[in-house]
Amino acid sequence: MRTNQPRTIYLSEYQVPAFLVDHVDLRFELFEDGARVHSTLSIRRNPEFPDQGEALVLDGDSLVLESVQMNGEAVPENDYQLKGEQLVVPGVPDRFELTVVTWIEPQNNTRLEGLYKSSGMFCTQCEAEGFRCITFFPDRPDVMARFRTRIEADRAAYPVLLSNGNDVDRGELADGRHFVTWEDPFPKPCYLFALVAGDLVEKRDTFHTCSGRDIDLRIYVESRNAQKCDHAMDSLKRSMRWDEEVYGREYDLDIFMIVAVDDFNMGAMENKGLNIFNSSCVLASPDTATDAAFQRIEAIVAHEYFHNWSGNRVTCRDWFQLSLKEGFTVFRDAEFSADMGSPTVKRIEDATLMRTAQFAEDAGPMAHPVRPASYMEISNFYTLTIYEKGAEVVRMIHTLLGPELFRKGSDLYFERHDGQAVTTDDFVRAMEDASGRDLSQFRRWYEQAGTPVLDVSDEYDADKGVYRLKVQQRIPDTPGQTDKQPQHIPFALGLLGADGADLSLALADSDTEAPVSRVLELTDTEHTFEFHGLAERPVPSLLRGFSAPVRVHYPWTRDQLMFLASHDSDGFNRWDAGQRLAVDVIQALEGQADDGEVDARLIDAYRQLLNDATLDQALVAKMLNLPSLAYLIELAEEADVQALHRAREKVLTTLAETLREDLLACYHRNDDSGDYQLTPEAIARRSLRNTALAWLLHIDDAEACDLARVQFDRASNMTDQMGALRALVNSGFAAERGEVLDGFYQRWQDDPQVVEQWFSVQAASTEAGHLGKIRALLTHPAFEWTNPNKVRSVIGAFAGQNLSEFHQDDASGYRFLAEQVRRLDDLNPQIAARLVAPLTRWRKFAPVYREGMKTALEMIRDKDGLSRDVYEVVHKSLAGS
Ligand code: BES
Ligand code: ZN
Repeated sequence: MRTNQPRTIYLSEYQVPAFLVDHVDLRFELFEDGARVHSTLSIRRNPEFPDQGEALVLDGDSLVLESVQMNGEAVPENDYQLKGEQLVVPGVPDRFELTVVTWIEPQNNTRLEGLYKSSGMFCTQCEAEGFRCITFFPDRPDVMARFRTRIEADRAAYPVLLSNGNDVDRGELADGRHFVTWEDPFPKPCYLFALVAGDLVEKRDTFHTCSGRDIDLRIYVESRNAQKCDHAMDSLKRSMRWDEEVYGREYDLDIFMIVAVDDFNMGAMENKGLNIFNSSCVLASPDTATDAAFQRIEAIVAHEYFHNWSGNRVTCRDWFQLSLKEGFTVFRDAEFSADMGSPTVKRIEDATLMRTAQFAEDAGPMAHPVRPASYMEISNFYTLTIYEKGAEVVRMIHTLLGPELFRKGSDLYFERHDGQAVTTDDFVRAMEDASGRDLSQFRRWYEQAGTPVLDVSDEYDADKGVYRLKVQQRIPDTPGQTDKQPQHIPFALGLLGADGADLSLALADSDTEAPVSRVLELTDTEHTFEFHGLAERPVPSLLRGFSAPVRVHYPWTRDQLMFLASHDSDGFNRWDAGQRLAVDVIQALEGQADDGEVDARLIDAYRQLLNDATLDQALVAKMLNLPSLAYLIELAEEADVQALHRAREKVLTTLAETLREDLLACYHRNDDSGDYQLTPEAIARRSLRNTALAWLLHIDDAEACDLARVQFDRASNMTDQMGALRALVNSGFAAERGEVLDGFYQRWQDDPQVVEQWFSVQAASTEAGHLGKIRALLTHPAFEWTNPNKVRSVIGAFAGQNLSEFHQDDASGYRFLAEQVRRLDDLNPQIAARLVAPLTRWRKFAPVYREGMKTALEMIRDKDGLSRDVYEVVHKSLAGS
């Protein structure tokens, strides 16, 4: 463990690799007390590397080195060095074979990087730098090699042995052991290597590709989960078809495998031909998984599948380019989800995540560009900025080019760079070359951190019938970056007339066939646009569809917002207007004492939403959600969490009390007793019904309590059962709360994915969620410190979602989190570092909170042997204080 400061890695210091690896031959001997890894690398000097006398340097981490051979001859110990984490062999020839044997202990690996054990099976996670925990290797994505992997293990305990590519050989060994050999014909970086050995059942299907090949599809799970694979399999087939139809991408191997494992740091991993999934992101049945889980599984299966082209066939040159594969692939999976369900709802969900969490990241001490310039620990850079903002950047290219030219650009990108490790710049260049558009200014989106702010003002000249819109952009300073240059922003807008219809957007008098929605391009600090031929002052609908990841400031009145919320032809902006209205009402109440009144217009708007069955119910279900406390904090200059929480509660309580009858009617109208369906309509019905229930229980309505009990007992799907449970847990009905929580656990205790939900509904609840109860959850028999899902469902849910309980003025929530982070850091540094996130933005909060958060960060900082992961987050957060 560490005593000195971790090193910072800079993009500007990138050098091509000194050695290339053409072929990797691996042999794994798996045992209960460890594993022996034999690795033979065919290595040659890279002719492009400046110094042709350079020593061979291989990365390694937590390895016991047993032997080194060159071209079959033992290398004497004096002829190589183990320096820190590296194996250095000086004076090597231009081309040679190196065989290294290492010993590792997967059964003791709690970091879950490299080879480890999860509920009795062996599995791997190599992205970003986990392969070095398996054997010595140039562990960087621009070294691409062909892999052949032989796995040997006890046949009874590990009947299934999997790796990337095709199985080319198998057989029996002495002592009840057996082996399987896999060969992957595609050169790949080592982060895409995977191995699985376990006692698993196999669910099979076939996919017929566009060129007429049959692909063998297999999902491997523990036998108790055999009935929970259908949804993932269907999602996989839909993804494969969609990628053929929308991107012209066909699958390349003859077999595609997915494995579910219970202990996993992330959601899932796109290893070539052998995706490994967190069980919670693949297993589902209607009785155990909520609608949200079903949708998440569909999106993740698609995401990892799409990586086969955007990530695997074309990969990243270095980890600074991470968004090349992640941003692009998130954009691809978002478009897929939009096509499979409701595009407007998907856009609302993504914009909410951006505005609530990514904007916060971009305004805090960990802010970084989509293509970072430096890092200490790459695992800390799997961020909302790389993923979500990166996807928004790709979306803006799509918006600027239009769908046809964008597709031309992606075709060119895949054709030009197939089999290569490339940069975000290569991606943008392909888009430029295919479209003829100049994206040089656009590239600033990759280089500059921070969320651009658009200040919009307008004036109407009634005599001339001209409406002028002035748009100014500014980009706030972020750590290490000041005085930023204006960015190229696609700004979609419309103008509404008094009847609520869209007006023509004529930019000149001569413009007679003008469209009613336009994408304006902002490139300067200030623009003024003139719209002609307008007989009345319009109401502007700005940034339609969230056409760029920016903040828009415009002085809408509440009446204008009401108007937009019921008339805007852009579904996204209808929702947005409702949110802005609610934010305005809550913010106004925040300053007032208890006697503040909730604006009757907001109540009317909600009454209309609840009662108008002609509206798109999926959109209504979204519009009913009040802005979250997290979003209100993000919008505040200096957040007084408890004051914001009280104001929000006041609005919620007033709405629920005033609209009680409407909510009950909505509840009954959306009673859905038919077969479980996953259509946007069916999902909206369940969502509306459960929102109505939650609001009624928020005011402790006795009739609603009875309804919830009945719903809980009779629910035929987890969405409804969880809806009733959540509503009761967040109510004041203490006896019922205890009963349903116990009943739920009794029924589902053998299903880890459901128990995770049971943990998180408690950790995130305002009633049950206070600290004593949270601590009790940590000692519950089902809680496991070594299982990331359990840690996230208690500690993560409390600190990340239960903000009104976490932010106490006695700092108890912060101290609690610091204690758990210190404890976890020794077991799993990646998970520990992620848990620190809620503390990092301490400067954003009112003084009562700020000091406590800072003290908690210092408590973590002062732990002995802090991991590099936590070190980076804590030190950057405290920097300058
Ligand atoms: N490549 C990542 C998984 C990963 C990230 C592994 C970091 C190791 C370190 C994978 O493609 C991914 O992005 N997964 C996401 C889900 C996705 C739908 C955004 C995840 O795991 O959360
Ligand atoms: Zn990904």
